[in-house]
Amino acid sequence: MTSLAAIRDAWEDLAEQDALGAILTDPSKTGGRWDIAEFMQTGEAEVETVSRHLSAIGHSPDPSGLAMDFGCGVGRLTQAMARRFTACVGVDISTEMIRNAQRLNQHARCSYQVVNGTQLPFADETFSFLYSNIVLQHVPRKFAVDYLGEFERVLKPGGILVFGVQDSFAAPDFSSRMIRVRHVLRICSRLKTAFGRSGGDMQMHLLPERVVHSTLSRSKVVDVRFTNTAAKDFNGRLRYLDEAPERGYVGKQYCVVKDGKLV
Ligand SMILES: C[S@@+](CC[C@H](N)C(=O)[O-])C[C@H]1O[C@@H](n2cnc3c(N)ncnc32)[C@H](O)[C@@H]1O
Repeated sequence: MTSLAAIRDAWEDLAEQDALGAILTDPSKTGGRWDIAEFMQTGEAEVETVSRHLSAIGHSPDPSGLAMDFGCGVGRLTQAMARRFTACVGVDISTEMIRNAQRLNQHARCSYQVVNGTQLPFADETFSFLYSNIVLQHVPRKFAVDYLGEFERVLKPGGILVFGVQDSFAAPDFSSRMIRVRHVLRICSRLKTAFGRSGGDMQMHLLPERVVHSTLSRSKVVDVRFTNTAAKDFNGRLRYLDEAPERGYVGKQYCVVKDGKLV
């Protein structure tokens, strides 16, 4: 299995070449062609979409608390979260991503930190909100499970965890394995065209719902939605889907409440 050190090295390479294009991989924007304001605006829109959804399901996080953006990249989502919470910290495995995030930081109440390993450098019960999107899908299942345990540990009782994963790969018949292999090869070849060798290191991993449920022991899953996060039209524009796509990756977003208490 790929080690965390190998994952870190791959993201360092990607961030050094084109950090924004490695995060949102629209082929018309890779190679340094993202407009930074447009890129950051996708984060504002995504956080607004999630906030409205949480409000609609009755699980808005406490804005007077601390928030964490796990796998923050250059802070696309962290900056938008900082506008909504007393303070927000973005954490990432890549030093180069964090360097970029610090350069783009617009808020005194927002900070960034490099994290190594699956233990997060925060005390128990620190955060009232933790968000992570398009991150755990790039982490092998064993580590993703460890991170979920850490998310539970650092959340306050009643705190809200929202994270996105790829649940499964949908294909109409027994040839699904071949279709998935072809799909993954297509993504890798597109990334290799844009990023050279390191593009092929941006792996995709599945985290099925049964594993999420069996991993979370100190909190309650209160909402699960299908999302478009691995679809071609994503590019930072999060949409909730009424049903699972018939083909390709099945993205899911979970909303979890620590200790099952309502806030
Ligand atoms: C596709 S980018 C998403 C960035 C950000 N979440 C966003 O949506 O703008 C994935 C990010 O996750 C980070 N990452 C990958 N594996 C990680 C890990 N094990 N721990 C922390 N960050 C990780 C990468 O360095 C990269 O910045």
